[in-house]
Amino acid sequence: MKQMACQEWVNRDAEVVATCQHLSYFPLVVESAQGDIVTDKDGNRFIDFLTSASSLNLGSCHPEIMSAVQEQFQKCTQYTPAYTYNEATITYAENLVSVYPGGVKAKIAFGNCGSDANDCAVKFARAYTGRKKIITFLNSYHGNTYGSCSMTACTPRMREKMGPFLPEIYHFPYFGINLPDEQVERDCLQAIENAFSMYLSPEEVAAVVIEPIQGDGGILPAHPIFIRKLYDLCQKYHILFISEEVQQGFYRTGKFFAIEHYGVIPDGIIMGKSIGGGFPLGAFMARADIMDSLPAPAHLFTLGGNQVSCAAGNALFTILQRRAFQEQLARTIKLLWEEAGQLQRKHPDVVGFVRGIGMSMGIGIVKKTDTGEYRADPEGTYKILYRAYENHLLIINVGANVLRVQPPLNISDDHLRKGFAILDQAMTDFEKGDIPDAVLAGKKGW
Ligand SMILES: Cc1ncc(COP(=O)(O)O)c(C=O)c1O
Repeated sequence: MKQMACQEWVNRDAEVVATCQHLSYFPLVVESAQGDIVTDKDGNRFIDFLTSASSLNLGSCHPEIMSAVQEQFQKCTQYTPAYTYNEATITYAENLVSVYPGGVKAKIAFGNCGSDANDCAVKFARAYTGRKKIITFLNSYHGNTYGSCSMTACTPRMREKMGPFLPEIYHFPYFGINLPDEQVERDCLQAIENAFSMYLSPEEVAAVVIEPIQGDGGILPAHPIFIRKLYDLCQKYHILFISEEVQQGFYRTGKFFAIEHYGVIPDGIIMGKSIGGGFPLGAFMARADIMDSLPAPAHLFTLGGNQVSCAAGNALFTILQRRAFQEQLARTIKLLWEEAGQLQRKHPDVVGFVRGIGMSMGIGIVKKTDTGEYRADPEGTYKILYRAYENHLLIINVGANVLRVQPPLNISDDHLRKGFAILDQAMTDFEKGDIPDAVLAGKKGW
């Protein structure tokens, strides 16, 4: 595979861009991206299983989104919503509040990304409840502003050297579907209840903020018993239950919001990534009484919720709401899980688990130890994804050993099958010992 032009740009990048800005897996310099294909500077074409970190749920440059954006460009690129009003932003707000689960009367505050949407949730939760403390979870990722970074707990590299962080954030264990029901039933609230009885007064907790599926933590859906118990606990102590949907919202899981799979109605929803149809946007929406608890300018941004991002978002929203799209998505989800099942059956000693919901899937790579147990295999994971990259599939890992499978929701059947064929070949090569240790030199991702 040709890499020369890409490598040259990567070298230039190293001279001028801070190291902390890339979790790099391979020297992929994006030249163009259309639909479910990404093309690099050397002309290599990749099937996209990354979807720009789940921020392009309808793939790159969807024609309807592009034409809505072009139309908006003709009128106005952006004029700050901080001092003025505009049609695109207002209609997008109307659209988003209209899909608030349970038909709750909601309002929205826009920002620029998922990180500041998390900050926003903390501000409103504190203002509305008059309480300071926030509960989040181990292994979570909420973003990289100071507030959202303080809520995150998935790698010390997001903490070291940068403290002090936002105070009054408490992290507790997350209980995923990988655990047996009895254990979840017995243990899932234990650490929180212990804390409540020893040092953390529940009457001082403003909100619980939870990813219904931990994304960067390893595509791990919360156990339904955990969500139910947590929700009931929140109800008991009048703590806001906030669903963090930055990575899993906008039909990534087959429903508009991932929390809808759990049958609870959150007090607030944090959004980012795909909300902007490919343009920078983030938002927090919650019950109207919560959103009325802060005065201007407590949370506004010059460019937050600007016309172009909202025009793109409106076009995305229209497509997501179509029955034809939803029916096609159901078929694509079925195909995705069939393909993953086949892969697991073919490589039982490499694929330890396949988990997730809808089009948000994690494939766990394991190795058999001398005693016959299976352990996470971070190096094997990297070798497989690197070979997949060499064979033109764009895929990364999250957690130590989880391949992140989040293709565009509208990926073609052909490309979905081809993507899995590439993974199959990469695993076969790995099993045969055909992927040299030398590739591990490039392992710099999560
Ligand atoms: C669950 C979750 N929350 C928040 C963020 C932060 O979003 P952004 O990087 O767009 O600010 C991310 C990004 O990966 C995420 O996955």
